[in-house]
Amino acid sequence: MSTLVFPRLPWPLPALLAWLLAWGAFSAAAGAGMPLAALAGLLAGAAAAFTAQGWRRRLIAAGGFPLSACALAGLAAWPPWAWLLALLPLLLAYPLKAWRDAPFFPTPADALDGLDRVVALPPGARVLDAGCGAGDGLRALHRLWPQARLEGVEWSRPLAWLAARRCRAAAVRRADMWASSWAGCTVVYLFQRPESMARAVDKARREMPGGWLVSLEFEAVGLKAAARLGRRPLWIYRIPASTAAATGR
Ligand SMILES: C[S@@+](CC[C@H](N)C(=O)[O-])C[C@H]1O[C@@H](n2cnc3c(N)ncnc32)[C@H](O)[C@@H]1O
Repeated sequence: MSTLVFPRLPWPLPALLAWLLAWGAFSAAAGAGMPLAALAGLLAGAAAAFTAQGWRRRLIAAGGFPLSACALAGLAAWPPWAWLLALLPLLLAYPLKAWRDAPFFPTPADALDGLDRVVALPPGARVLDAGCGAGDGLRALHRLWPQARLEGVEWSRPLAWLAARRCRAAAVRRADMWASSWAGCTVVYLFQRPESMARAVDKARREMPGGWLVSLEFEAVGLKAAARLGRRPLWIYRIPASTAAATGR
């Protein structure tokens, strides 16, 4: 229903729109008293949140107004520079570059269950978690394939540091996953955004023909899934071995 009424906007526009509209509605209704103004803000924010894809993003978009209102009410006495200081840890954990792909959501421990039955991994094969966050995806991959050569690439320095400590079996680098080559990897695992998938398919086709691209939640465009597992779901794609096969020639 919501897909019919609300246009889908690229993330994080829905959140910005929801927060802006919620505060706009709150200000516009301020003359009617605090309870009504708060209700107007909540409703405007919740409605605008439907321009986001997925319930988690909708929650973030709709939750911005009530959370910031509570914070403002409780922390009104803070000087402006204290707000800037509070933003620093956020910017460290999420450098702006990473915002174009996904922010940090960890892979649930059981989300990759069954992947090892679809993908038969040769001994010593390289498996990469592109955008490995705090290492939850790496840990799940290690449970499936303890013999694999596990690698993680993560743009956020603190998260890359944490991932290396939480999954000592993996070689974790702080790097841009788009600038790092995927050549030689048998499996590349991603948990990013719907908007990242076309770029990931293009990169996989160029750099790892014959390999496997595995995506949690977000479907790839232009590739036929070899399997789809679980409720999240987990999408498993075999990259055609040659460009000719990839383009259907
Ligand atoms: C949804 S989290 C997934 C974390 C991990 N793969 C897991 O499943 O537990 C996405 C991660 O990708 C990282 N990321 C986003 N853009 C990136 C980029 N261009 N290069 C490297 N990492 C990036 C984010 O910082 C974030 O930690």
